[in-house]
Amino acid sequence: MYRDRIRMPSLMGKVVPPEVAAGLIKDGMTVGMSGFTKSGDAKVLPAILAERAQTEHFKINLLTGASVSDEIDSLLTKAGIIARRMPYMGDPTLRKAINAGEVMYVDQHLSETVELLRAKQLASIDVAIIEAAAITEEGGIVLTTSVGNSASFAIFAEKIIIELNLSQPTELEGLHDIYIPSRRPYREAIPVVAPNSRVGTPFIPVDPSKIAAIVISDRKDNPVKLEKADDETNAIAGHLIDFLKNEVKQGRLGNRLAPLQSGVGAVANAVLRGFTDCPFHDLTMYSEVIQDSVFDLVDSGKLVFASATAFSLTQSCWDRLFADFEKYKRHMVLRPQEISNHPEVIRRLGLIAINTALEADIYGNVNSTHVGGTHMMNGIGGSGDFAGNAYLTTFVTKSVAKGGAISSIVPMVSHVDHPEHDVDLLVTEQGLADLRGLAPRERAKVVIENCVHPTFRDAMRDYYKEAVKRGGHTPHVLEKAFSWHIAFRETGDMRKAFSK
Ligand code: COA
Repeated sequence: MYRDRIRMPSLMGKVVPPEVAAGLIKDGMTVGMSGFTKSGDAKVLPAILAERAQTEHFKINLLTGASVSDEIDSLLTKAGIIARRMPYMGDPTLRKAINAGEVMYVDQHLSETVELLRAKQLASIDVAIIEAAAITEEGGIVLTTSVGNSASFAIFAEKIIIELNLSQPTELEGLHDIYIPSRRPYREAIPVVAPNSRVGTPFIPVDPSKIAAIVISDRKDNPVKLEKADDETNAIAGHLIDFLKNEVKQGRLGNRLAPLQSGVGAVANAVLRGFTDCPFHDLTMYSEVIQDSVFDLVDSGKLVFASATAFSLTQSCWDRLFADFEKYKRHMVLRPQEISNHPEVIRRLGLIAINTALEADIYGNVNSTHVGGTHMMNGIGGSGDFAGNAYLTTFVTKSVAKGGAISSIVPMVSHVDHPEHDVDLLVTEQGLADLRGLAPRERAKVVIENCVHPTFRDAMRDYYKEAVKRGGHTPHVLEKAFSWHIAFRETGDMRKAFSK
């Protein structure tokens, strides 16, 4: 069966058993693997490498698009193979190793990794392992369910190993738009002027002589698990949609809004699903991932086009996609993450960006990554690419976590991923803070009154009153700014910082 998918006859002899291909990877190498939010990841070689580690000591620097299946990061972490990992992950075993200082994790804006590689600011890629649906007559690589960093990894790598996955439908060909920016200082404008712009090729153009091995795979993508929408996520969606309706009423937006970007996870999914029953129409997305709710929007006729770098789907949604692939393909494109998240394009298109905060403070600074200021959760992902450049930068979060023991709105965030300068809207189930054009002292009042959970609101008002007495443009009581975090660390409950 695989013969139909390798359309360049001279590459047929490159098909080898996975153990042979894995032999190309040596101690100390930098390996770029395909994969983004569990889609299109290399699935065969990681298992072989983990097995090899039982009898041979070796370590690699591992780069991917973003998170890959837990099984892969987990397997490689347990095998002790990963010396350095970038630019994003979401696996609990790897998270533990990162927080123990065993793996050097470089948490990076997702648009930036290949730019740094291109400029030789990072160690170059020795081997790229790329999952493909087919290889063209010229040796071009047709990707599967994500693009991520795969195109540049393959172009920069000394050697390429292809995992030709027979379980991925051949209809995927034509879904991708591979455009690689030219080298500076002669770079031209990226010609994406609308979410549905097609500006590249449907395959990765590579020198076929670099394809060192082809491994046949039939392993399916792992589906994501999605928390169900609840009263809080629905309330967050409601606040945001009411806000957007008012923006239309005020004439700042039309009923088509602006291209939407939405982060992953339950809250973001609920917000997007909320657009199904609203007066907006002919919506578009210029986002990082296409998640389940996008299919509801396409089917309801609300969304006309979605551009992203990967799918991030539950099993039922994978089934839905492949049952009617040609229909959905007309409404979608997958691009390299450098382009889906490119500051130039995000600023040009004027996106409405919606991402999730771990915590935010009374001035609108947002922490997306570090629990208690020290422990890595997942990584900044693409949130910084979008937050820094969107038309309307929105962060959403439930106002409390861990059964009410944590307030997600704190006096001062314990780590800053998104500074107040980038954040326009902060939304919790309590309400929405519109921070546009407000000075810090005005921002604090709106955040406290609209977003803080009632359990924490009086204590926050007291904190702010005391801070104001000390003066300043952005008043704080430095001795108490982290007292809620410290109370949580010491007692497991932030409320202990102010309750007797
Ligand atoms: N302090 C400590 N823990 C907190 C917390 C806080 N302020 N707020 C939430 N949490 C915990 C939750 O209790 C939950 O823990 P659990 O897994 O043990 O149940 C966990 O963090 C996840 O929170 P949840 O409310 O379920 O949100 P989520 O799954 O949507 O994840 C982020 C939130 C911020 C971790 C996630 O969106 C992320 O990694 N963002 C950064 C990357 C990004 O934005 N990517 C999209 C860009 S395109």
